Amino acid sequence: MDATTFDNRYRGQLIAAGSVGLLLSLSTLAQPMFVSTFISRVEDRASVVWPLAMITVMFILQAVLTAAQSFLLGRASERITALLRWSATRDLLRSDVAEFRKLDRGDTHSRLVSDTQLASVALADGIVDMATSGFMVVGAVALMLYVDVGLAVAAFGCLSSAALLSALLASRVRAMATTNQADIGAFSSGVQRILGSILTIKSSRAEDREEQRIASLADRARRSGVRLTWLSSLFMPAATVGLQLALLVTIGWGMSKVVEGHMSLADLTAFVMYLFFLLSPLAMLFMSLGRIQRGRAALSRVKELKGIKQEADPVVVPCRLGEDDGIAFEDVRFGYDAKRPVLRDVSLRIPPRGVTAIVGLSGAGKTTLFQLLERFYHPDSGSIRVGEQDISSMPLGQLRGLIGYVEQDVMLFSGSLRENICYSNHDAAEADVAAAIRLAGLQPTVDKLPSGMDTILSEGGVGLSGGEKQRVAIARALLKKPRFILLDEATAHQDSETEAVLLDTLKNVSVETSVIVIAHRLSTISIADRIVVLDGGSVHSVGTHEELLEVDERYRTMILLQMESAPA
Ligand SMILES: Nc1ncnc2c1ncn2[C@@H]1O[C@H](COP(=O)(O)OP(=O)(O)OP(=O)(O)O)[C@@H](O)[C@H]1O
Ligand SMILES: [Mg+2]
Repeated sequence: MDATTFDNRYRGQLIAAGSVGLLLSLSTLAQPMFVSTFISRVEDRASVVWPLAMITVMFILQAVLTAAQSFLLGRASERITALLRWSATRDLLRSDVAEFRKLDRGDTHSRLVSDTQLASVALADGIVDMATSGFMVVGAVALMLYVDVGLAVAAFGCLSSAALLSALLASRVRAMATTNQADIGAFSSGVQRILGSILTIKSSRAEDREEQRIASLADRARRSGVRLTWLSSLFMPAATVGLQLALLVTIGWGMSKVVEGHMSLADLTAFVMYLFFLLSPLAMLFMSLGRIQRGRAALSRVKELKGIKQEADPVVVPCRLGEDDGIAFEDVRFGYDAKRPVLRDVSLRIPPRGVTAIVGLSGAGKTTLFQLLERFYHPDSGSIRVGEQDISSMPLGQLRGLIGYVEQDVMLFSGSLRENICYSNHDAAEADVAAAIRLAGLQPTVDKLPSGMDTILSEGGVGLSGGEKQRVAIARALLKKPRFILLDEATAHQDSETEAVLLDTLKNVSVETSVIVIAHRLSTISIADRIVVLDGGSVHSVGTHEELLEVDERYRTMILLQMESAPA
């Protein structure tokens, strides 16, 4: 099912609910007519079977229609909630990485889970209630004017003061609803912080501090929630006070008209019934006004999320690439924020085969190079090419299909080990999966796990060690059989025995693939065919280990320090 059918379906359901609501209003509005006829017939001593039968039919019709409307509305609002959740998540999945990283996780979660539901209340219940009760109000008003203009004008005068008050309240409710939903978002963000850092919290003995923080966030949401409820609860009294005043005027003046013979008792009864009928739709109108304001506030929070900048992927036709195409960075300048460049005029060629090691101090811009190559970010100037093709002129699917990327901080999904390994290649043959596991040195881990490949890992890969997680990510990258393998310190958590297995694998894979490793350890550097020294965001030098040792003082110092701190 695509977005349009989904959209059309909920629109159809809303219209159905609205139509049932209109029928309901019509059947209600018809009742006083029959009651009036009934009274006139009693006065004239004529047969009352027909008006009585009609009144009964109207009662039954009303009951059936009320149930139908409530069901249709509920169903439509569930559908709208699902549509909003789905479409906002869809936009998040395809969002620009830089924009995505600015999002607060807890707040985003709260927008997706609770604001979507609140918003659907505005769209479904609020709008349909407002439409049907609006129709009912207009109908009742027209019929009251028809029965007695003077009496009707007097009653409306009393009611309009209440309407004015409610309109003023509505704008306050909306502002307070926005505050309340933002407070709920902040609370959710606090919870997320605890979920993500429980060990840090415990080892810092910060449970009390976090508890206080969460309590104050919960209290802030409570306070704005109470203020919102207080404002919302004023809607009903504003309506009822107006109505009671109108009732008083109607009965007083109406009865004097009946006594003076200017109005029949049947007409006054019908008029009072209409006035009563005005009560519930009017109250509903006021309440739905409040609800719509709350929902609109929620909807605007969801829309903000839905409006997140999408990753640009304008090219559809895959580019032609040659077997021997390598990667070239040409005068690449880039900064996460425009004022602070991270990479300055980086020019670099990486051949289609062999191992290239990138070395440099922490913060030199090594990971950034990989992120530009994956097109998570875009160079401020200069270009990155695969063969002759600028990566910005390639479809994203093609570009990312060429690359197997093992991130610096590996995160695994909650799911089975198999799902985690096959994530980049769902249809991989069993033999290929087995080969990737063996090549990544993961076999002993698989043998050790209670259900082997089908062992369920918790969120973030809890249950595996840091080194094991890295090897899962390496197996995933290998299984993709990419043209370029990017490894960001992927052997950093391995013992020397496992590391030797991995380095052996990388060396073998590099016969057909370009392996690019960000490395701190001499052991990794030693398998590299060429080494790129990155310093302060620029390429300082390129060469083999021996060449660099000979000519590059900077490299020599780095290696010496490395040997002192962690002899390989
Ligand atoms: N998402 C980001 N937003 C803003 N600045 C960032 C972001 N990621 C990295 N930086 C900054 O860019 C610079 C280069 O970061 P990068 O991650 O590329 O370094 P690195 O060479 O990989 O370092 P390390 O060896 O510590 O992993 C650093 O100064 C870092 O603070
Ligand atoms: Mg890094």
